[in-house]
Amino acid sequence: MLSGKKILVGVTGSIAAYKTAYLIRELIKLEAEVKVIMTKASSDFISPLTLATLSKNPVAIDFVKDEESGEWENHVALGLWADLFIIAPASANSISKLVSGNADNLLVATYLSAKCPVWIAPAMDLDMFKHFSTNENLSKLRDKGVHVIEPTEGELASGLEGKGRMEEPEVIAQLIHEYFMADSILKGRNILITGGPTYEAIDPVRFIGNHSSGKTGILLADECAKRGAKVTLITGPTNIKVKDPHINVINVRSALEMMQAVEKLWSGMDIGIFSAAVADYRPLEVADEKIKKSDEELTIKLVKNPDILLWTGEHKRADQYLVGFALETENEVENGFKKLAKKNLDLLVLNSLNDKGAGFGHDTNKVSFLKTNNKIRSFELKDKSAVMADIINEIEEDLES
Ligand code: C5P
Repeated sequence: MLSGKKILVGVTGSIAAYKTAYLIRELIKLEAEVKVIMTKASSDFISPLTLATLSKNPVAIDFVKDEESGEWENHVALGLWADLFIIAPASANSISKLVSGNADNLLVATYLSAKCPVWIAPAMDLDMFKHFSTNENLSKLRDKGVHVIEPTEGELASGLEGKGRMEEPEVIAQLIHEYFMADSILKGRNILITGGPTYEAIDPVRFIGNHSSGKTGILLADECAKRGAKVTLITGPTNIKVKDPHINVINVRSALEMMQAVEKLWSGMDIGIFSAAVADYRPLEVADEKIKKSDEELTIKLVKNPDILLWTGEHKRADQYLVGFALETENEVENGFKKLAKKNLDLLVLNSLNDKGAGFGHDTNKVSFLKTNNKIRSFELKDKSAVMADIINEIEEDLES
């Protein structure tokens, strides 16, 4: 997924501009944040309204937003906002302006301000593409680090056949996806994730458990695997299937089994993300036979389970990174910071119970990240998989810094 990635899409005057609508849709599906800049000529081919609706952001075309108030479009801010600037389609005219730096429109001005990687997907008639002017311009851009997505061969709008068709939107979106994934600092790293509930046996047929579905652990594992990490997921009982065959799944039932698995694996890991809803207590004794309902009252003596995350924090080396979760009902931030310190964590994900749509039984969640030095970062309510991507982005940023 491209969650957290900011993609600026530039559109120039070519019939292929209609394909940009599909490109934007693909990028949004991959959860990227998308903003669009169009040249005036491109708006003859596709309406700004279409691209604004698909990108979920207003489209920028002119330097001046509102003549009366003097409000202007900040091309410098747009250029700095983007993690990647893709100009698709890139017409022969716009390509030449990129080379000469002729900033007579917002798109080229933004290109000159952009600090991020710039990609272009040329689209034009075959003879225009073959022309030495276009060739020279493209090779100059390549020399300066602009990534050119080669056009494909086929039928062109002119009716002629040849090379000049803009690459298909799905392919461009996939290339962008691969680019960001290849980029991940998590590639090849060993990540240990705990998830799911634990079941604490009372007798051969009964247990003490909780309502955790195991979804969080699996979403975290998916997100890390997608970024090329070597993931081991230790999960308590869950009905959700782990689809990614690259994830090494270890199924456990009780806290003690989870503890044993973590003890065995932790020293070989680079990162730990502990999201399991571990039962705090277990029955002192497990009856060999099913307990009969003979007496009016039944007392089960419980003993404390090991705190797996605490043990892991105590055995954390300087090169290891550890993430825990907390769900507090009062003084959440204060207690969260205490937990971060006590368990020797690098990141504590604080779940909110006080917000609508957050917490148990929802597909959305609202979290804050607590870090050492009293640093706190709060997020709005969002889809659970987007929350997982935010967590993994945060780990990546910390490892990169
Ligand atoms: O202390 P508390 O239970 O609130 O901490 C929650 C965090 O600790 C979660 O990350 C959970 O996975 C982890 N935990 C654990 N072992 C326990 C209890 C909690 O790993 N016995």
